Amino acid sequence: QDGLDYLIVGSGLFGAVFAHEMTKRGKKCLVLEKREAVGGNIRCEERDGINVHVYGAHIFHTNNKEVWQYVNQFADFNQYVNSPVANFRGELYNLPFNMNTFHAMWGVTTPAEAAAKIAAQRAEIEGEPRNLEEQAISLVGRDIYEKLIQGYTEKQWGRKCTELPAFIIKRLPVRYTYDNNYFNALYQGIPIGGYNKIIAGLLEGIEVRTGVDYNASRGEYEGVARKVVYTGALDEYFAYQLGRLEYRGLKFETERLEQENHQGVAVMNYTAAEVPYTRIIEHKHFEFGTQPVTYVTREYPQEWKPGEEAYYPVNDERNQQLYEKYAELAAKEDKLILGGRLAMYKYYDMDKVIETALSAVKREAAEE
Ligand code: FDA
Repeated sequence: QDGLDYLIVGSGLFGAVFAHEMTKRGKKCLVLEKREAVGGNIRCEERDGINVHVYGAHIFHTNNKEVWQYVNQFADFNQYVNSPVANFRGELYNLPFNMNTFHAMWGVTTPAEAAAKIAAQRAEIEGEPRNLEEQAISLVGRDIYEKLIQGYTEKQWGRKCTELPAFIIKRLPVRYTYDNNYFNALYQGIPIGGYNKIIAGLLEGIEVRTGVDYNASRGEYEGVARKVVYTGALDEYFAYQLGRLEYRGLKFETERLEQENHQGVAVMNYTAAEVPYTRIIEHKHFEFGTQPVTYVTREYPQEWKPGEEAYYPVNDERNQQLYEKYAELAAKEDKLILGGRLAMYKYYDMDKVIETALSAVKREAAEE
């Protein structure tokens, strides 16, 4: 293992793209992965012919043509378009907020009628919104807030909307067209054959050691490579010497159901406060599956405790300042490259992770 160019910690999208590109350029790479399987959070598990998104639903969407062409090298993409449905006590509404939503809510049929309804309801809030509730009402009015935002947001954050700061919601896009396509992206889809196919293509011919936690086996890998590419959590890299970064957790409850079609859509949001989960994912609909059985996953937002899977960074002031301090320590290590959602302590969509990995490769090439 000596004489490596890059020791890459983490086989998620960032580590896999970096390893692939550098190997292609004739560099010697070794990937370490602490889980038993590669792929990080885009990994799927196949059950009864259905790809189950075990770390949360993943829909690829991007406006970046280069990134789109990049992923298409490893898999073709299907025509899946994300069109989630919100379920409020049995009333169904299309998302994102659009003419279908407004028609179901108020019976309006024209954009002008819908806009007038929203304008009248927005007027309820005078002056600067003092909390998230007032902010949401000032943007879309009370009906949409109470049926589609309030309960969902309170479950996500574990706090009342009146106790959450207004800045959490800056914009609430409203569309006056009958368009249920959730993402405003030029390119969108699910890889045919699943995300594992992309990871397998990226890591083909590259040595990967799974079940190896780099931080627990530093001694063994000291000095083996010219550089270390680290995609794990930054506080963990520094043995939490300045304190711990915090995250929001998620619990997934997956169930096999003896029916062909459970909810008729991949993503159904449950927006009432009394339903404990925020969403039910029916995985087969990402790939237009026709199997006789189905798999559904209920998603429960949770407090996060150290040692649990870290899903969303909490980018508040305390955590952000702590992260900056760790980043200063990291900047002093000239053989260390950081990348990916954990090391950067940032929520990144997949396309951004690929984009930043390709940029890191370009920076490295420019240094030589
Ligand atoms: P990722 O976490 O995937 O990989 C890091 C790897 O490093 C892991 O495999 C980990 O085990 C390993 N590792 C960490 N520490 C280590 C150590 N010390 N030693 C060895 N290995 C170590 N994006 C999108 O575009 N569309 C979507 O629909 C969604 N949906 C979505 C849902 C949910 C619930 C979440 C949380 C996220 C999304 N995303 C998304 C974002 C997407 O998951 C994300 O962009 C990528 O998976 C991030 O890839 P990384 O390589 O950065 O991290």
